[in-house]
Amino acid sequence: MLTQAPKGTRDMLPQQAHIWQTIESVMRRRAALAGYREVRTPVFEHTELFLRGVGDTTDIVQKEMYTFKDKGDRSITLKPEGTAGAVRAFLENKLFADALPCKMYYLNSPVFRYEKPQAGRLREHHQFGMECFGGKSPAVEAELISTLLDILGDLGLKGLSVSINSIGCPNCRPRYHAALKEFLSGRFNDLCEECRERFDRNPLRVLDCKVPTCKEIVKEAPSMLDMLCDDCRAHFDQLQELLTAKGIPYTIDSHIVRGLDYYTKTVFEIMVTRGREGLALCGGGRYDGLVEELGGPATPAAGFGIGTERIIMELANQGIELPEPAPCAVYVANLGEEARTAAYLLCQGLREKGIQTEQDLCGRSLKAQFKYADKLNAKYIALVGGDELSRGVIKLRDLATREESEIPLDEAADRIAGLL
Ligand code: HAM
Repeated sequence: MLTQAPKGTRDMLPQQAHIWQTIESVMRRRAALAGYREVRTPVFEHTELFLRGVGDTTDIVQKEMYTFKDKGDRSITLKPEGTAGAVRAFLENKLFADALPCKMYYLNSPVFRYEKPQAGRLREHHQFGMECFGGKSPAVEAELISTLLDILGDLGLKGLSVSINSIGCPNCRPRYHAALKEFLSGRFNDLCEECRERFDRNPLRVLDCKVPTCKEIVKEAPSMLDMLCDDCRAHFDQLQELLTAKGIPYTIDSHIVRGLDYYTKTVFEIMVTRGREGLALCGGGRYDGLVEELGGPATPAAGFGIGTERIIMELANQGIELPEPAPCAVYVANLGEEARTAAYLLCQGLREKGIQTEQDLCGRSLKAQFKYADKLNAKYIALVGGDELSRGVIKLRDLATREESEIPLDEAADRIAGLL
């Protein structure tokens, strides 16, 4: 136990840091180009925020939250998603009083869900998300989807599909709920146990049940798209016009309902087209009622979340390798104790010039230091010590050509910098 991470969690090891950092820099760049700025909210919030925000009938709230009492007897929950915290920060800091829209993104925010761990499903994962407050135009969703595809494209991912749907608004959804329930009640006994429970509390979720018998049943279910009010219909049509104008292929999937209660109008998912059935790379949509639901002024909003671990899994599936960091430029080897200070100072002098430099920290023999420098793929070895040190020079070896030269110690940093 002591040396085993909790089930469903993963370390990001130094060997993988370049993958995470490349993904992060692509996300930062694309988000900034679209005018989004970073937000960081706490890892935990008051449980009530998620009960109200995410919805107390959702699987996330009912089964998956990490909730505990703190020492002050408050109920606290580790973030099971990023949107509710972003809305809370938007309200608490009165960002609604600034010129809108307010566009924010969170980067590799840890998210906790007590799920059955399996490929692509972790108990702690990390999300990049973009949230836009104050924009009611379908251009918000079009901009979000375009930015997402740009990010995934920059990373080299291919074979992605965009699915969109509209789940209506409080004006038109109740009529649909009633029609759906009427349809499902005729097939109630054939539904899986979970869907029978969902029937009352969240009938929409039956539409995305993965159990084959339920999948078969809902094929004939009435579609929300046939019952949208004029406003929702126009919004959905305009979103499609924008995606088409940009040449973004998409499919309309009336079974996308998403697992969170706050959505209105547009919902969307990005899936990989090969393998990994049912695992979305990304999900999002519009949530025009949430800010008001949490006590703020009526504010239209939309956003998405994408799991970094799922991106990394898909990069591996597609055999995409992100660039490794540049290898060490100079390895400063030392010939024992008396050379240590000079070696340390040379090492720091080189780093001050922006040169990636390593030195011996393990007390290795000279031979072992040379071997290690080879392993690091260093370009040069600067050998400090022995007879050379007493003459005030160092030996510089080019590891590719094996050429050696002597240079004065006090000019070494400048001279090496000139070579690189
Ligand atoms: P979500 O679909 O629940 O949406 O999660 C977004 C993404 O997080 C998923 O598409 C997936 O990449 C990743 N993800 C979710 N659960 C796991 C897991 N157990 N293990 C690994 N990755 C996972 C939301 O969370 C919404 N807050 C998105 C949103 C933002 N909607 C509007 N704004």
